[in-house]
Amino acid sequence: MSGKYNITLLPGDGIGPEIMAVTVEILKVIGKKFEIEFNFQEAAIGGVAIDATGEPLPAETLKICQDSDAVLLAAIGGYKWDNLPRSQRPETGLLGLRAGLNLFANLRPATIFPQLVDASTLKREVVEGVDIMVVRELTGGIYFGQPKGIFATEKGVKRGVNTMAYTESEVDRIAKVGFETAKKRNSRLCSVDKANVLDVSQLWRDRVTLMAGEYPDVELSHLYVDNAAMQLVRAPKQFDTIVTGNLFGDILSDAAAMLTGSIGMLPSASLGAENPGVFEPVHGSAPDIAGQNKANPLAMVLSAAMMLRYGLNQEKAAAAIDSAVIQVLDKGDRTGDIMSEGMNLLGCREMGESLLKALENI
Ligand code: IPM
Ligand code: MG
Repeated sequence: MSGKYNITLLPGDGIGPEIMAVTVEILKVIGKKFEIEFNFQEAAIGGVAIDATGEPLPAETLKICQDSDAVLLAAIGGYKWDNLPRSQRPETGLLGLRAGLNLFANLRPATIFPQLVDASTLKREVVEGVDIMVVRELTGGIYFGQPKGIFATEKGVKRGVNTMAYTESEVDRIAKVGFETAKKRNSRLCSVDKANVLDVSQLWRDRVTLMAGEYPDVELSHLYVDNAAMQLVRAPKQFDTIVTGNLFGDILSDAAAMLTGSIGMLPSASLGAENPGVFEPVHGSAPDIAGQNKANPLAMVLSAAMMLRYGLNQEKAAAAIDSAVIQVLDKGDRTGDIMSEGMNLLGCREMGESLLKALENI
């Protein structure tokens, strides 16, 4: 299956450049194997962009991303930029990228690799076989609602405000992604909200319930977010596909990630209706281990597989990356975050080399 694609690389901050370097080497080999021509272009986002231009998402970066076929993003942020005003924080660049590309649907799979069952902090019988897809709304809700800000009241006391708001159409488009995703999996969709307290959640629940009529083969359930958080750690295997709003999805996807042993294993895909998708690991920039060749590159590498699968429709190439990851895990190769007794402790680069070797036999 051949193809020719312009890929924007956003290595970002912290461990970002290290895990991106490994991933690009792998994509080069994949390109040769499957006759796919990747044209890589690098751009700045996050802290590195702030240092270079004063802005976390320079207009040029957004333009390069908009003009490409897919965007690979590693990680942004670090202590150095934590105290800047909000408009200049690395996180604001990431939110601007999501909004600028209209990436309203965020797919975050939390699948446990059998080889890593014992790396989870939860008991083997609880996590073995976990395979959850969190579909998180990404460009609305409390992250973007107006009014927002810190305002002075008449009494001279400051008041911080954010607004959790969803329109019917915003709920409908993410609910549709939820139902469609569930249909391709085990046909069970759990919608998570806080409809017992929040009006915005009541509207969410009403719209999702209405859409269920169009998907008679998908079994829909609803959970309040506090209960969902509890159920995720109590009995995670009850979940197949979860659809939820921006803030609840942010929180639940981190919890779901830990079921799998390490957040260092989890990829994600952010998709819109027309624009190129952004593919990035769920984990952050891990400034504490940056530049030490200790990072786990697997979430980034698996994000490249998601790019091939969901962004470029190159399923065979995506499957090759997935199976290279399984091979290295089978061999016992581990980075520090997923290390256990008797396994081979590798650095980030060495893990990349092991993946390249595995790809030779695929
Ligand atoms: C995530 C992150 C981001 C978010 C931050 C870095 C803005 O936590 O992708 O989950 O809150 O969405
Ligand atoms: Mg998060």
